[in-house]
Amino acid sequence: MSKAKVTVVGAGNVGATTAQRIAEGGFADVMLIDIADGIAKGKALDLWEAAPVMKHDCRVVGTGDYADTKGSDIVVMTAGIARKPGMSRDDLVQTNFNVVKACTENWMKHSPDAMVIMVTNPLDVMTYTAWKVSGLPKHRVVGMAGVLDTARFRSFIAMELNVSVENVSALTLGGHGDDMVPLVRYTNVAGIPLSELLPKEKIDAVVTRTRNGGAEIVKFLQTGSAYYAPAAAVYEMVESILLDRKKILPCAAYLDGIYGQKDVFAGVPCKLGAKGLEEIIQIKLTPEEQKEFDVSAGHVKETIATLKF
Ligand code: NAI
Ligand code: 2OP
Repeated sequence: MSKAKVTVVGAGNVGATTAQRIAEGGFADVMLIDIADGIAKGKALDLWEAAPVMKHDCRVVGTGDYADTKGSDIVVMTAGIARKPGMSRDDLVQTNFNVVKACTENWMKHSPDAMVIMVTNPLDVMTYTAWKVSGLPKHRVVGMAGVLDTARFRSFIAMELNVSVENVSALTLGGHGDDMVPLVRYTNVAGIPLSELLPKEKIDAVVTRTRNGGAEIVKFLQTGSAYYAPAAAVYEMVESILLDRKKILPCAAYLDGIYGQKDVFAGVPCKLGAKGLEEIIQIKLTPEEQKEFDVSAGHVKETIATLKF
C-alpha cells in the first residue's frame, strides 16, 4: 500500500520541524518545498538521513518545483515571513498575502484535491486567502492555531497545578490574535472544572499568558517566532485526517452563519477525518463569551477587508 503524501510549503522553522514530525510519525512521505530550494533540499536530505536511526521509511524530499508536489493528499502552508519583536501578526499581512496567493495558485495546479492546512500568519486571514484563491470547498481548508493556543493554555494550567498535561482538557476559540477566546468554562482537569482548582486571579493570569503566548516566545528568540509547539499542533491535525481519527480539534474554519458569523475564518471545534473538516461542533456560549468571539472574528474581518483579491 502506498503511503500518503504531504507537501509542506516553506522549509523554515515551522515547515522543517513539521516535516520532521510527519516523517517520524511513519505514515506519510513528505515533499518540502521552498522558494529557497537549496534550503528545502538540504533540510529534506538531512531529515531522510535520520530515517535509519529514527526507524521509519517515510521519504522526505526537498524541491523548488511544484511539479514534484503532484497528487498531495495534504498541503501544509508555512511559507511567509514571521514576527520579530514589536510586530503583531497583522503586520505581516500584505507580504504574506502575496506569498499565500502565489503558492496557492502553484499547488492547486498539481494537487487540486488536497486538504489544505494553513499556518502562515495572520492565520485566519491567510486561511481565508487560500480558500478564496484555491476555490476549494470549505471543508478542505482549515487553519492551525487553536490546537497551539489550547496546548499553551493546557501546559500553563498543568504547570500551575503541578499535574500531568494529559489531565488538562481545554478549548480556545476565535481568531489567532491577542483577542483569542480561551474558554475557562469548558476547561477541566481530570473532569474537575478548573474553577474548582484555581482562584479567579490565577485563572485570569493563565488566560492572559495564553493570549500572549506567541509574543512571549518572540521576545526570547528575537529573530523569529515559535515552531516546536506549532509543528506539533500541525502534526496532530495531519494525523487525525490521514488516519481518519475524527479528533475534535479547535481549527480556523469557514463560518457561514454558525457561531453567529458569516464569511470569515475563525477558530471553532472541528472534527477532522478522512473527508477533511467533517463537522463543526456548535457549543453554547454565554453572552459574554459570544461577545468576545464576535470581537475576535470582527478583527479578522476588518483585516480581510484590506486585501484586494
Ligand atoms: P521562517 O522564516 O523560518 O520560514 C519561512 C520560509 O518561507 C522560509 O524558508 C522562506 O524561504 C519561505 N518562503 C518565503 N516566501 C516563499 C514563497 N513564495 N514560496 C515558498 N517559500 C517561501 O518562518 P517560520 O518561523 O517557519 O514561520 C512561517 C510562518 O508561520 C510565519 O508567517 C509565522 O508567523 C507563521 N506561524 C504561524 C503559527 C500559527 O499558530 N498559525 C505558529 C508559528 C508560525
Ligand atoms: C505563535 O503564536 C507565531 O503565531 C505564532 O507563536
